[in-house]
Amino acid sequence: MNTIVRKQMSIHPDVMDLLNNQIAMEMKASASYLAMASWCDQRELLNSKAFFYKQAEEEREHAMKIFEFINDNGGAAISPNVNGVNNDFESLLSIFELGLEQEISVTQSIYKIFKAARKNDDFITEVFLQWFINEQSEEEDAFRSIIDIFNLMEGMPLKMIDERIPTE
Ligand code: FEO
Repeated sequence: MNTIVRKQMSIHPDVMDLLNNQIAMEMKASASYLAMASWCDQRELLNSKAFFYKQAEEEREHAMKIFEFINDNGGAAISPNVNGVNNDFESLLSIFELGLEQEISVTQSIYKIFKAARKNDDFITEVFLQWFINEQSEEEDAFRSIIDIFNLMEGMPLKMIDERIPTE
């Protein structure tokens, strides 16, 4: 990016680069949840399907929040390439476990940007990211609660477990 644009930005340039990486991560998460929704849809696991379609939408919304934040603050948001999406899963439980792993990675990534913002006195990004920190806490909690359902209902038919998966 040219120097004039960088000078007009409210966001620190290094932080903006991390935010652009985060857009890519959120879009990859969205595509990944879409693949999980499709796996569930093919097996008539209706609540799990609804859960993952909703997750896919939410991740896209997260990406868009960051995208607009960068451009609204004088930066340059980058539309990412999304590739390497896995569509091949072993089981419904493994899908939720992968989802939790993905959420933990996103949380770590958000923390990294938060720390960079703090280090660079990028106050606007620090405030902006607080919403994401709360959101990640809720999302990790949602996945952990679902994995608990699997543990509690071990040995029960998959359809019965699916009926316990929250869709909201
Ligand atoms: Fe937007 Fe769940 O990470």
